[in-house]
Amino acid sequence: MPPPAKELKEIQGDIWPGLGKSHETFYLVSIDKPDDFITKMKAFVDQGHITSAESALEKRSQNRDAAKPSPSPGINVSFSASGMKKLKWDDMSLPRGQALTDRYFKEGARTDAMSQGRDDQNDYEDWMKSYVSGKKLIDGLFLICGNEGSCKEGVDLVKHHFGDAIGLIEAISGDVGPEPHGFEHFGFKDTISQPFLEGWEDSSDTTLNYQCRPGVIVMNHKGMKGSDKRNPLWEPEWATNGSYFVFRKLAQDVEAFHKRAEELANDKELDLNMTPKQLEARFVGRWHSGAPVELYPTQDPGPGYSDNNWDYEDPNHELHCPYGSHIRKCNPRNTFRQVKDKDLSLIMRRGIPYGSRWSESTKDEPRGLLFGCYQSSLQNGYCAIMNKWCNNDGFPFHNSGQDVLVAQPIKGAVDPNDQTLHANLYGLCEEGNPHKLRPDGKHPEEKKKRCNFPSFIKPRGGEYFFTPPISFFTKLVEGPPAMDDEDEEEEEE
Ligand code: HEM
Repeated sequence: MPPPAKELKEIQGDIWPGLGKSHETFYLVSIDKPDDFITKMKAFVDQGHITSAESALEKRSQNRDAAKPSPSPGINVSFSASGMKKLKWDDMSLPRGQALTDRYFKEGARTDAMSQGRDDQNDYEDWMKSYVSGKKLIDGLFLICGNEGSCKEGVDLVKHHFGDAIGLIEAISGDVGPEPHGFEHFGFKDTISQPFLEGWEDSSDTTLNYQCRPGVIVMNHKGMKGSDKRNPLWEPEWATNGSYFVFRKLAQDVEAFHKRAEELANDKELDLNMTPKQLEARFVGRWHSGAPVELYPTQDPGPGYSDNNWDYEDPNHELHCPYGSHIRKCNPRNTFRQVKDKDLSLIMRRGIPYGSRWSESTKDEPRGLLFGCYQSSLQNGYCAIMNKWCNNDGFPFHNSGQDVLVAQPIKGAVDPNDQTLHANLYGLCEEGNPHKLRPDGKHPEEKKKRCNFPSFIKPRGGEYFFTPPISFFTKLVEGPPAMDDEDEEEEEE
């Protein structure tokens, strides 16, 4: 069952069902002539260049196949807080209660990342350094998806249509790489776990993905910010069917990843009794094929595993899947006894790799993930995952470790003198099986090995955006709603 017809026309297609792609360009721009931009944006939408959920469903299958003749590109557009300000659609220009509410969006990624002390700014690329210093603000993002040819066509289209109304800050491209597709650079099957939007997707697929109320991803629908008993409109009415989008360029150090697994496997003192492959699977929480370590603790059952509708056996149990493994940190499922709002921090991931596959001859080339995700609240979605869970040694319990894959070594987070990351590993017993809980239900703590990790990824830059519903562009031309009398009187006082 697809979303209702109105939503299909309103929602930009990358939010749901996703823009089909073998290639994608993240086209980061400044809005240099806002009035001109608004007129051109409306014409762009009227000419059908912004891909709605409805047209994304039609385009998807064609665009995936790079061998086919170039079909039309899928294009979506989003704005940062500074972009919304230039469009005069922010707190300063709109009547009270009419502006977007999320504080992380308003402050932007540069403030969030810096206030958390997470990113090392020396790792940023020049475009991000200019943004942080305030020299070049990122106002908007065009997502352009297709096969190699149609993606290039889409970039040219945006360039020519908007002319000097926009300025290019950076065009960042990624692609799915050579066959087999669907694997990220560390060698793991990716994009397995996605929220399954209840009532909007074919219910026969429920085993594939994790149940989620549509409002967790799409603004002002059931499930937005949890309890549905409260006012269902949590963002202003005009934002209904929009979503917040996080973009992060994340460089991956593939060599360091494999090297650390090997070192831990060969460490006689630790005596983990695991191969490097078994250790790597524990860093991620899934085997290279995608099968979850929680359900298959000893070995990779191989490709073909597709059930994603599972929970951790016991919140007090990390003998199969460490608390610090990437997928357990990012989606703890039942780990911390969430029952009512278990879906509240789910995100719709839309990443694509960049750079060549790692090999002896390409090892010094840049590579990583162009990470993207949608959610109706940054506070509950990406920012909760990163700030409260991944980087937090105290989640879900004291000394649980950090996300082995994506946590950043925040000075003082664990030890003021130590900037390495930590996670707990239990290893396997002599027979090659996982250790067992003690008869009193507690972990055999004496088997727990607290291990250090270097950070395997480095953030190169990114921003938080708002991806508006398609009707927003008509409203932009008409201008913001006038302040009502009450507001004006209060302003005068
Ligand atoms: C270079 C960086 C990253 C790599 C290599 C990576 C890799 C992976 C892999 C291999 C999986 C398992 C496959 C799947 O479940 O689809 C996964 C799952 C996931 N990742 Fe990442 N990831 C990265 C960054 C991030 C970041 C920054 C977030 C932040 C929120 C994130 C959130 C998630 C989530 C929510 C899941 C699904 C967990 C589940 O539902 O079980 N990832 N990632």
